[in-house]
Amino acid sequence: MEKLDSLVSEARDAFDKVTELTQLDQVKARFLGKGGVLTQLRKGLGQLTPEERPKAGARFNEVKGAIEQLLSDRRDVIQAEALVRRLERERLDVTLPGRDIAGGGLHPVTRTLERVTRLCQSMGFDVADGPEIETDYYNFSALNQPEDHPARSMHDTFYIEGLKHLLRTHTSPIQIHYMEQHRPPIRVISPGRVYRVDSDATHSPMFHQLEGLWVDETTTFSDLKGVVREFLRNFFEMEDLEVRFRPSYFPFTEPSAEIDMSFRDGWLEIGGCGMVHPQVLRNVDIDPDRYQGFAFGMGLDRLAMLRYGVNDLRLFFEGDLRFLRQFA
Ligand code: FA5
Ligand code: MG
Repeated sequence: MEKLDSLVSEARDAFDKVTELTQLDQVKARFLGKGGVLTQLRKGLGQLTPEERPKAGARFNEVKGAIEQLLSDRRDVIQAEALVRRLERERLDVTLPGRDIAGGGLHPVTRTLERVTRLCQSMGFDVADGPEIETDYYNFSALNQPEDHPARSMHDTFYIEGLKHLLRTHTSPIQIHYMEQHRPPIRVISPGRVYRVDSDATHSPMFHQLEGLWVDETTTFSDLKGVVREFLRNFFEMEDLEVRFRPSYFPFTEPSAEIDMSFRDGWLEIGGCGMVHPQVLRNVDIDPDRYQGFAFGMGLDRLAMLRYGVNDLRLFFEGDLRFLRQFA
């Protein structure tokens, strides 16, 4: 029976040394298991005298209860410690800033296109769209440029299926589409992609133009100059902007001019313009004796180039993010 007295502290020491639940089961078997110390002691109870037995039995139950209690306390402690360790290991810092979803940005030419469209709308122009694959008629013939006309050689382009269709070389075919659908007074712009067999620092095989058309009874060349100057001053936000109208030739305007802006030490052509040729009006059944007007076609990529100070226009279309991110 003396054994019982020391057993509780013996069990406490053994349990305290255990730090893992799996080890705890082994120690538990040593004290409480079928072949454990307590089972052995209980067998010993049978050998006591009837007088001794009740007291020893009660003492035995007390010790067994105490050891069971120690075991369950130790199990709680081990589980609590394991939980603390796990929380420590899997700690989340909820104050960390979230991960950014990379935001895209508009291409500088798209931004330019949207900007010129807004500007022209504020100047009273409607906006029209047209096909990038054109017929020879809309791209050339209706614009007073018959098949054997030498001016066609300035617009070498990408032909599709036996010369019947081609990638439009300028946005001027929009003039024809629009005048087929609308009668004067007409005031419309049309921005879009165009294509030519061209490639150098100021020429790309795919580029963008902004077409403008204004037809009414008394529209004059000085209206043309005023509108173009006003547009460019607004676009570049410069009152004293230098713009030059240089006499030129287009089959679909008469008289015609190129629009130049100062660039580096000289001039950069940004567009062509002129008074709509009477034959073009006739081609869409508008009476040239009653109506007259002007048209212009500007290179949007050239406008973007000047505005952002880029010196090779092809950079816009190489898709290099290091370049494009500067505009986002
Ligand atoms: C034309 O395309 C005429 N349709 C413009 C016009 C419209 C004249 C209405 C009269 C009335 P031009 O070929 O010059 O004209 O081109 C106009 C502008 O497009 C040029 O001034 C230039 O700014 C731009 N451009 C021409 N080719 C390229 C190219 N390969 N890459 C980038 N921009 C170009
Ligand atoms: Mg030109």
